[in-house]
Amino acid sequence: MRSIASAVVYGIFSVVGFCCALATAVYGAEVAASDDRLIQAIVPAWVFPLNPPSFSGIQTYDHIKPLHVPGSRVTYTEADLSDLFAAPDWFPAAHSPMPSVVAHGRAPDVFACGYCHTPAGQGRPENASLAGLPPPYIVQQLADFNSGARRSAWPGLYRPADRMIHAAKFVTADEVTAAAEYFSQQQLQSHVRVAEVLRVPRSRVVGWVYAAEPGGGDELLGKRLMEFTPDAARHENRDDGLQYIAYVPIGSLKRGRSVARFGEGGAPYACVSCHGDRLQGAGLIPRIAGRSPTYLLRQLLAFKTGARSGATGQPMLAVVSNLGINDMIAVAAYAASLQTTPVRRPGTPLAHSLPPAAFEKAHRVRNYCGGESG
Ligand code: HEC
Ligand code: HEC
Repeated sequence: MRSIASAVVYGIFSVVGFCCALATAVYGAEVAASDDRLIQAIVPAWVFPLNPPSFSGIQTYDHIKPLHVPGSRVTYTEADLSDLFAAPDWFPAAHSPMPSVVAHGRAPDVFACGYCHTPAGQGRPENASLAGLPPPYIVQQLADFNSGARRSAWPGLYRPADRMIHAAKFVTADEVTAAAEYFSQQQLQSHVRVAEVLRVPRSRVVGWVYAAEPGGGDELLGKRLMEFTPDAARHENRDDGLQYIAYVPIGSLKRGRSVARFGEGGAPYACVSCHGDRLQGAGLIPRIAGRSPTYLLRQLLAFKTGARSGATGQPMLAVVSNLGINDMIAVAAYAASLQTTPVRRPGTPLAHSLPPAAFEKAHRVRNYCGGESG
């Protein structure tokens, strides 16, 4: 185990090359001290909650019992919800018609994009929101997953990202174009509330996110960012109306704002100078406001370790080279706490057919803006 970990770490650093020569020098000494500690120091295990082993075994799914989620008249069975070639669509009025690759993918290798990223591209904490991202950015990320320039920050098995990379290897250029056009036209809504706390519920992992252990009491959060589903069943049933809650250390939002706006924490430039004043994205640079802070933190770590090192991501390697994990948590929390504003691309109508208020009602969306604590 130790030698595999070591190979992974050295592999990572050889990819980063000269860009992270400084990081290699700093961490080099630690490699000798403890490989395991090194990986944990860069990518702590709590950033990638893994399902208990029973999730990974052969499972039988119920084909009969109809399942529901609040606010939707659609029903699915457990078997339906386990089919990677059929995106569960609880709120069909909340998005424009999905292209085939988003709704169904293409068996046996291209899983339906909408299965993981949800039909309206809102994403889930274990993957990524895609709504409103610029089409060329989406196309480039698929190319990077395919070439190996973009990997998960987690060096071990992590099924959501492993499957993403698998799909990227088999998807055609036309399918990528269709998916990119479609997702770019959907409206991102915030699906997370950020709360600064001292203590968190004791947790278990369901579907790669944290859920409170019933009757489990609580524990110190410490220096972690933990995104919880408020309802284990709704998460497992892939309810895309669900609002998650991200617990972050007290003081994170204020610190995150300083990092984002003024480049504190050692970033050579403030995040707003590239990602836009409210972090809503600018040109081909993606929005980071209102997105899952778990996702954002994973990406900062991926840039830091070199797991994400595509040509268009090079500016980010310098940005994170001096950024410590606590400032990454802070800036991810701050960005996630911001409201999302619609991105209207010239000539594109708003994608979902419902007016925003009805959309929000259908999605049971509530925006928690501007660093609420609790
Ligand atoms: C099995 C689940 C799964 C499926 C199916 C899937 N993805 Fe992903 N996708 C992920 C995960 C997980 C990530 C985040 C990976 C990481 O941490 O870098 C991701 C990331 C992405 C990103 C990067 C987003 C960003 O902001 O940089 C894009 C773009 C993307 N996926 C597009 C697609 C498209 C298009 C399809 C369909 C062809 C698809 N995905 C199918 C799980 C999936
Ligand atoms: C010099 C310009 C620049 C600055 C400054 C910058 N970024 Fe970025 N950022 C980019 C670019 C370009 C990308 C797209 C990378 C790619 O194409 O893979 C990006 C991507 C990201 C991503 C991944 C988004 C996704 O959808 O996967 C995150 C997270 C991020 N930046 C966070 C930050 C934070 C936090 C800061 C401040 C500490 C910051 N960035 C500062 C240019 C910048």
